Amino acid sequence: AEDGAVRRDLAGRTVLVTAGGTREELDPVRYLGNHSSGKQGWALAHAALARGARVQLLAANVDLETPPGAERVDVGSAAELAEAVEARLDGVDALVMAAAVADFTAASRSGDKIKKDESQPDSVPVLALARTRDILRHSVEVRSVSSHPARPVIAGFAAETGGEGGTALELGAQKARRKGADLLVLNDVSTGVFGAEDNAVRILDAQGEIRGEASGSKVTVAHAVLDALVPRLPVLPW
Ligand code: CTP
Ligand code: CA
Repeated sequence: AEDGAVRRDLAGRTVLVTAGGTREELDPVRYLGNHSSGKQGWALAHAALARGARVQLLAANVDLETPPGAERVDVGSAAELAEAVEARLDGVDALVMAAAVADFTAASRSGDKIKKDESQPDSVPVLALARTRDILRHSVEVRSVSSHPARPVIAGFAAETGGEGGTALELGAQKARRKGADLLVLNDVSTGVFGAEDNAVRILDAQGEIRGEASGSKVTVAHAVLDALVPRLPVLPW
């Protein structure tokens, strides 16, 4: 359903949404970033609010107006986002990782601006990178050892083009099994969606089986994701 005639099936629920794209600082003026606009995360926030949820929105470098009613916290890097998610996970009913999180960060951030070596016109700096934490996988692990009675539903997103390793669907199914999240929203990006208004997704479960499909606006996709998520929510204590 589009906004308007939606069920209030998230009333009393808290949904944590990550949105946007992290930035890894290399020096005081440069960063490693990505093209995520934050629009899908924003659409999820709007849809969850319309369905009655309390929404905590962790925004990584998003240049959009906060959805009215959402509790927005801005973060910069993957490490900041990881910390912000972990601090909230125990208190929410669902986590939706729509943010594009950097896989690599600078092994060490230069305190000074990295300069060209003018005496050696062909020389280039070698950037040493380090892996970031996989927030989605880590959240699934933290949940499995948590003593907290409420087990939040955890959903991720994956953008795949397909290639030598298989079709977008095959790669998405492998990723779903690897991540272990309850839901993985698979976006076939071979045609390019960054910043686009429309989207087409298949929603996979932790076994890589297709549990839903949607195409259209990012709000339509968001409602389809919430449709798949609602039946998996933890049982309410009353
Ligand atoms: N993700 C995460 N932490 C990371 C990287 C990704 O939580 N360090 C989350 C994203 O928010 C998304 C999901 O994992 O919900 C899938 O992201 P994707 O980049 O497709 O997966 P990766 O495991 O990083 O695989 P790839 O090598 O294809 O980038
Ligand atoms: Ca990645």
